[in-house]
Amino acid sequence: MRVLVVGGGGREHALAWAIRREIAEAVIHCAPGNPGTAELGTNLAIPADDIDRITDAADMLGADLVVVGPEVPLAMGLADRIRAEGRLVFGPSAAAARIESSKSFAKDVMRSARVPTAASATFTSLADALDYIDRHAQPLVVKASGLAAGKGAVVAGTRREAADAARSMLEDASLGAAGSEIVIESFLEGEELSLFAITNGRDVTLLPAAQDHKRLLDGDQGPNTGGMGAYAPVSLATSELLARATSEVLLPTLEELERRGTPFRGLLYAGLMIDAAGAPSVVEFNCRFGDPETQAVLPLLNGGLIDALTASAEGTALPKLSVNPHLAAVTTVLAARGYPDAPEKGAAITLPGEMPEGVTIFHAGTKRDDAGVLRANGGRVLAVTGVATTFEEARVRSAEVAEAVQFDGKQYRRDIGWREAGR
Ligand code: AMP
Ligand code: GLY
Repeated sequence: MRVLVVGGGGREHALAWAIRREIAEAVIHCAPGNPGTAELGTNLAIPADDIDRITDAADMLGADLVVVGPEVPLAMGLADRIRAEGRLVFGPSAAAARIESSKSFAKDVMRSARVPTAASATFTSLADALDYIDRHAQPLVVKASGLAAGKGAVVAGTRREAADAARSMLEDASLGAAGSEIVIESFLEGEELSLFAITNGRDVTLLPAAQDHKRLLDGDQGPNTGGMGAYAPVSLATSELLARATSEVLLPTLEELERRGTPFRGLLYAGLMIDAAGAPSVVEFNCRFGDPETQAVLPLLNGGLIDALTASAEGTALPKLSVNPHLAAVTTVLAARGYPDAPEKGAAITLPGEMPEGVTIFHAGTKRDDAGVLRANGGRVLAVTGVATTFEEARVRSAEVAEAVQFDGKQYRRDIGWREAGR
């Protein structure tokens, strides 16, 4: 089997790792990949958003399956292009990817499908946005409608902060075109959950639920990031809750997308808020696997991933994933100094000589220099996943190796999974 994985972060290293684990003889290429994926296959020096060259590479390689990691190439139509060439691709069409690339579209789909989510309105006019802010209770959340690489949402404690955020996006174009349309919504109380559903457009097969840690610092302090760590499974995600999220959120959303002529095939990521009564509502949808949640979720599988990705790509009946019910995983992200605003590149990285049992280091922002030295090359540098039969042991394994990896400026959280530890 020849697989092309598109992307070069920790999520894509984890996808390539999981594919290699299931099919030892699979021929894996990654575009562009990273030094971690280089150990599992061949990296192609093609940026993930160069969709012409990626389409050509898939043809040249004779790829049996293309797995697209990031949202940007999906929003640009990479999956449409590869499908048009008659190849199997895991990932939605550009039209269906709007569930992530346009928050106003996502809100409209949810309204039509009666999916629970925060009350909201969409604006392109600042005057109208300010008027709405005046008439609604604080706190409010102001979001760029377009893709903003995790920087698009401002949780505003006061109306004044909400007005500042709206002004900055609509008037000062602080987020460029992504913020030329904004969504303002009410603040949801509760606990967040990341739910990953592989879908063929109609049915879903769920991966174990995960919880992300978006803030930079321990105790959920500091600025929002792409995610500083994750764990799975989450005991809050009981089978009742998952059944409810499937019937109230995932299936109605898929049905509505199909009704609109844009069926969604690929990974539908529901970012949920679970309120005190245990009811889920949608904070956001993403059209792809989450990062770093994927690095915690995929190690829990016994198998079935490739079959599920293939069935999703084909639009055929989904097999059940085989999840090991006895395992827990905790992932700690190691970030560079200056992340998330201005990460420093170049620090030399020393990995532990011998890896303790149950620990995998996924590469994200790393590269090898001409001398072969591994160096930091992005905001999130590495993700350390510990797997064990208990959450506590998985947490200790991840934390110990996170501590042992060395590079100048390393920042990481020491409290990944603190909510679970308290349960
Ligand atoms: P988003 O870009 O929509 O994922 O938002 C980023 C983060 O902002 C989420 O993970 C939440 O922590 C927070 N957030 C977004 N929308 C809301 C909301 N309506 N209520 C509470 N928190 C929110
Ligand atoms: N970890 C959040 C995301 O992938 O969007």
